[in-house]
Amino acid sequence: MNKILLINGPNLNLLGKRQVSLYGSQSLEDMIINLKKRIPSSFNLVHFQSNVEGEIVNFLNAEYINFCENTAKVAGIIINPAAYTHTSIAIRDALEVFRDENVKIYEVHLSNIFAREEFRHKSYISPIANGVVSGFGVMGYELALQKILQEAK
Ligand code: DQA
Repeated sequence: MNKILLINGPNLNLLGKRQVSLYGSQSLEDMIINLKKRIPSSFNLVHFQSNVEGEIVNFLNAEYINFCENTAKVAGIIINPAAYTHTSIAIRDALEVFRDENVKIYEVHLSNIFAREEFRHKSYISPIANGVVSGFGVMGYELALQKILQEAK
């Protein structure tokens, strides 16, 4: 079974409630349901959300160990690291090992981070990502998913 990893960082558990004008009115749960509807049955969308940096690193490390032991093929990674985008070398390092194995990484932001405060303009993740979608709302996740499915063909 081909896995697609979907990771959401801190405060994204509040989607639909938090700053709706910036992040939209859809809840995280509804977004995941909609994304799951878009994938063929041969793929497994594995979602992980955490407000804790180390938990995201632990999740990625565990998936990487599975990947190395050939227990799971990872078709691609979609990540919205949220505030950790702008601070986390640890999440970048945990992703980079996948990139070294040619697993595609797509960074998604609901809002346009470049049209916001200056501290959001810097992403530690973008230099190792295969693509970045910012400012397209939940459509950004759909695009990233579509890209991974297309590349897996
Ligand atoms: C975000 C943008 C980040 O700057 C912010 O900290 C978030 C969400 C986005 O999806 O637009 O929490 O990643």
